Amino acid sequence: MVKSYGERSNRNMRRPVVKEEIVEFLRTSQKQLDGYLADLADFAQRENIPVIPHETVVYFQFLLQAIQPKKILEIGTAIGFSALLMKESVPGVQITTIDRNPEMIAFAKENFAKFDKHSQITLLEGEAQEVLPTINEKFDFVFMDSAKSKYIVFLPYILEKLEVGGVIIIDDVFQGGDVVRPIEDIRRGQRTIHRGLNKLFDAVLNNEKLTASLIPMSDGILMIRKNEEDVDLDLD
Ligand SMILES: C[S@@+](CC[C@H](N)C(=O)[O-])C[C@H]1O[C@@H](n2cnc3c(N)ncnc32)[C@H](O)[C@@H]1O
Repeated sequence: MVKSYGERSNRNMRRPVVKEEIVEFLRTSQKQLDGYLADLADFAQRENIPVIPHETVVYFQFLLQAIQPKKILEIGTAIGFSALLMKESVPGVQITTIDRNPEMIAFAKENFAKFDKHSQITLLEGEAQEVLPTINEKFDFVFMDSAKSKYIVFLPYILEKLEVGGVIIIDDVFQGGDVVRPIEDIRRGQRTIHRGLNKLFDAVLNNEKLTASLIPMSDGILMIRKNEEDVDLDLD
């Protein structure tokens, strides 16, 4: 029994920003997972662990097969489901993934020991804000799937470690649709996330050195391509 998540966790995952019947169609009509990845997805669903939903799984498989990145950085490992999915999608890829939750880290270690036979995945334990400055490598694909208010804090580190032409995918940027509502209408406990996500949009959506695209999939995906080496971010 998982302690970190319960039936009331991850409220926004149950508030899809597109019609429910379309979400259902995306989840049931597209090629299903099999083998151990299907088992991990079932386990996550049973235990309310917020791993990427099936429409994002299929999108990632497509995107990664098209881009063929060599080195991926992920923030937010949980049980290792998305890291293992990415490993299966690109032959020979190297993945570095960060998480701070000891319970999730234990599950991830167990899963990587079983299913990452060629040690393609490196798990770094700790708060991403502290771990990121210690990484001295460049990546060509980054998946951010962690504390939403911190995406804007992590972004300068991520851009520094991203090759020109590299791609960043940021998950869950719509806050169940609340992100476009005035802050006064947002529950107090959710306002830091609201502010962080809006700062993120201000910094990237019209940045001349980035190409950015918002996709209404799951709870919103933001895709960013780094087009030039030095990117100035307006962080006011
Ligand atoms: C949504 S889950 C990741 C799911 C995973 N990417 C998947 O789809 O299989 C988010 C994870 O990010 C971790 N996390 C959140 N904020 C973090 C932070 N600031 N530093 C490190 N890990 C963080 C949480 O502990 C949690 O395990």
